Amino acid sequence: EAHDRSGVWRFRELLPDVALDAITTMREGDVPLFDAPHGAAYAGVDRLAYLHLGANPTASFKDAGMTVAISHARERGARVAVCASTGNTAASMAAYAARAGITAVVIAPVDGISASKVAQTLDYGAHVVAVVGDFDDALRAVRALDPAVAAVVNSVNPYRIEGQKTAALVLLEQRAWRAPDWVILPGGNLGNTSALGKGFREAQTIGLTARTPHLGVVQAAGAAPFARAWRDGADLVPVRAQTDATAIRIGAPASWKKARAEVRASGGTVLDVEDAAIADARAVIGRDGVGCEPASAASLAGLRRLVAEGAVAADADIVCVLTGHVLKDTAYATRYHESGARYANTIVRGTEIATYLHALI
Ligand code: F0G
Repeated sequence: EAHDRSGVWRFRELLPDVALDAITTMREGDVPLFDAPHGAAYAGVDRLAYLHLGANPTASFKDAGMTVAISHARERGARVAVCASTGNTAASMAAYAARAGITAVVIAPVDGISASKVAQTLDYGAHVVAVVGDFDDALRAVRALDPAVAAVVNSVNPYRIEGQKTAALVLLEQRAWRAPDWVILPGGNLGNTSALGKGFREAQTIGLTARTPHLGVVQAAGAAPFARAWRDGADLVPVRAQTDATAIRIGAPASWKKARAEVRASGGTVLDVEDAAIADARAVIGRDGVGCEPASAASLAGLRRLVAEGAVAADADIVCVLTGHVLKDTAYATRYHESGARYANTIVRGTEIATYLHALI
């Protein structure tokens, strides 16, 4: 059966009940864990691994949650699914809704989201509505909708969280159920932090793993209300968010309370990093032959800071979660390489290629 080949649904004893004939799956969830020598050297640790959630069908971690949210919506006969999105939720919803025969409507901030993600979403046949404002404005508009009219599939939908928690199981399974010391991930709306924390705790409760990892949540400095609240030991105060890592340009994260409970329970921490640090970390992840979109690289940039500050030991066992594929924001990557200082493009005539290669090796 198709659901037995899904890295989400093969854990369905741990998921809410959904009728088998409503399950809409694209073999999501079973993603690779890669060793990361360049990343380790950059962060100043002995060894490091990347959990590459960009290896999902629509190239981001959203698919593990979306298969559950859309299957549930289909089971109860929803005809329209809607989300606010900085691009990845949009693409994932659009693909799964297309396969489920549900109309998809995306509410996207009018500027500052990756053109690659918009194109992908349109390819899957979704309606894309641009709202004046940012992600927070878009999510506010979506949450005000009558749920009888459309299924809201943002991570405020608990089925999304249930699906995304299976990433914790997929990670542990590949390590013979030994938890790492730290799992470091980017934080935006904070659904994924909530989901992974829940996944690790449940794995421990049912005896799959002896302990849970510390969660390290990393925000972009211009979109860091959770990092500030953590530092101040205070409730979250929304901000107007700005960062080139557009996926996590979020100033009023919906799931901050759940995420705070998970980070606390894990003995973890929350921090922020500048956009320039994210850009450099992203290039390093590329050098490991993996690559990711900007928001994902906040994990490695954050790890580097935690090690420099002594919060994470150099000999710790660490996994950085990469949330989206390198091709999710090609304009960003192009800008980075065109800025020139780091890796120049070389243009040669065909007849000069042999000479060029000789000079390289
Ligand atoms: N990384 C990527 C690539 C994302 O797309 C997102 C969120 C995050 C990290 C943060 O995850 O919100 O669960 O804390 N993207 C959402 C979207 C907001 O609309 O695609 P989070």
